[in-house]
Amino acid sequence: MRVLGIESSCDETGVAIYDSNKGLLAHQLYTQIPLHQKYGGVVPELASRNHSQKLALLIDACLYNADLKKSQIDAIAYTAGPGLIGALLVGAAFAKSFAFALNIPAIAVHHLEAHILAAQMESPGLTFPFLALLVSGGHTQLILAESLGHYHLLGDTLDDAVGEAFDKTAKLLGISYPGGAELARLADDCPGELKGYFPPFPRPMLDKPGLNFSFSGLKTHALTTWKNSQQTTNERSALAYAFQQAIIDTLFAKCQRAVEQTGATQLVVAGGVGANKTLRNKLSLLMREKGTIFFPKLEYCTDNGAMISYTGTQHLLNGRKDNTLAIEVQARWPLTGCQ
Ligand code: KG4
Ligand code: ZN
Repeated sequence: MRVLGIESSCDETGVAIYDSNKGLLAHQLYTQIPLHQKYGGVVPELASRNHSQKLALLIDACLYNADLKKSQIDAIAYTAGPGLIGALLVGAAFAKSFAFALNIPAIAVHHLEAHILAAQMESPGLTFPFLALLVSGGHTQLILAESLGHYHLLGDTLDDAVGEAFDKTAKLLGISYPGGAELARLADDCPGELKGYFPPFPRPMLDKPGLNFSFSGLKTHALTTWKNSQQTTNERSALAYAFQQAIIDTLFAKCQRAVEQTGATQLVVAGGVGANKTLRNKLSLLMREKGTIFFPKLEYCTDNGAMISYTGTQHLLNGRKDNTLAIEVQARWPLTGCQ
């Protein structure tokens, strides 16, 4: 079975073709980041328009690279939420219409489920049940993945998502949107003698029981620290370091708690912030003692079409059908209600 996947929930148009026997055949990604950069964040209307301009081109490129004709596609999977409503509608309308024209099924995919399952694409050894840390621009969640379509939310952020905190702190330091990766680079390059320049930043929610997160206080602490500094190059570097350390220690401590609480022996780290090298190293240490850690390849951590075609394939193989012609998307959609 060959499944075309379409991702259009935010500012990346991702398209891919996954073959249930041969694996990923082709994938294409168009990032809108330069388009939104001058506004300091995603402009939803621009995002929707750009998805509609790029989708057909990317699909053509995927078919060409996979040496396939449209008629050789067996199903179309598309992101149905959560995300920007207009951007989701572009992908869903395209997927449903294309599937109708080809007389093949269209299958709605939950964006967060796709992020979590992305690790399975290259690691078939990853089997249910497993624990997942989902860290992206919009989400910070600890999830117990029980089986395909069945997820139990163990912890969530009470305010900002971790990627959002990274991006806002990066903006403070003059790094353009979405500054997470650049801030991480600055932190990783911080010279040893500057690492203790600022007293350690707060590790939010560690003094409270449970698995929830909160990052807005840490973000405010970064803002106050920056305002009270001379804002030199050294201070910029030291702040990035102190901020990243606080985030990573917090995520580490909560993952450790979740592993102890659930007895999980497999941990998946998914979502854009999962590309963070220091976070990967630290969590690898945790799982060295407790079991196995799985990371999607860096290019499948951030939004992409491969994870959508893969997740759609799994649901189709599992017998899921979608017979309606209605084009339905959900801007907000808890993962616990995705089956
Ligand atoms: O999963 P994703 O592509 O989009 C959402 O669904 O949100 O995640 C994007 C987020 C952004 O906030 C970006 O700054 C952050 O992931 N990010 C990083 C790194 N690479 C991407 N944050 C920290 N360190 C990184 N290396
Ligand atoms: Zn995402």
